[in-house]
Amino acid sequence: MRIDIIAVLPELLESPFKHSILKRAQQKGLLEVVVHDLRAFGSGKHRQIDDYQYGGGAGMVLMPEPMAICIDQLMAQRDYDDIIYLTPDGERLDQGIANQLSLHKNLLLICGHYKGLDERIREHYVTREISIGDYVLSGGELAAAIVVDALGRLLPGVLNDETSALFDSFQDQLLAPPVYTRPADFRGQEVPPVLLSGNDKAIDDWRYEQSLQRTQQRRPDLLEGQPED
Ligand code: 6GU
Repeated sequence: MRIDIIAVLPELLESPFKHSILKRAQQKGLLEVVVHDLRAFGSGKHRQIDDYQYGGGAGMVLMPEPMAICIDQLMAQRDYDDIIYLTPDGERLDQGIANQLSLHKNLLLICGHYKGLDERIREHYVTREISIGDYVLSGGELAAAIVVDALGRLLPGVLNDETSALFDSFQDQLLAPPVYTRPADFRGQEVPPVLLSGNDKAIDDWRYEQSLQRTQQRRPDLLEGQPED
């Protein structure tokens, strides 16, 4: 999968993809992330990319021209499955959307800033709008990093144990069960004995029960509409 990102602050995206799982995904050639600096497409000596909004009001708007030039240039090089604008008024990201997007070959992510994109860019180019939650960030870059992380780890071959993404919280609308590592007795707190029993069926049952309990307590909304058992 290739992901292009148009950013106002490309520096914010320098580190997130250089570690751990996303680093390995890129080294294996399974993921390519390319960040484009919107300012390089700005107009005039000052490479201007934002301007006052028509009708007045506080906050600048990203100018359509630099963004259009940048997008046109990228679209001339490849066909994008989706052109995604990261914005708090978009569809809220969840595991289902991440799964869906991870099947794509080429994605273009556009990071907003200030008051956001001129509406005409949204109408003309953007095919999908995504928010990472009901709170406001100062720009879309950190949201883009989250989207890339959520997708990158789902690409086949990225995780060591290919099945492990299947057991994530949310993959089956359940939160993950608690996990333990050595020592079996940590300052008097003991690991649940079933996990030391060697009985795989009992362990699976215990984990499922814990997942269910945790979901009921913390996120009952995830269980709504689920068949009872
Ligand atoms: Cl995608 N962008 C911004 N600026 N704020 C957000 C967001 C995105 N998602 C939640 N808050």
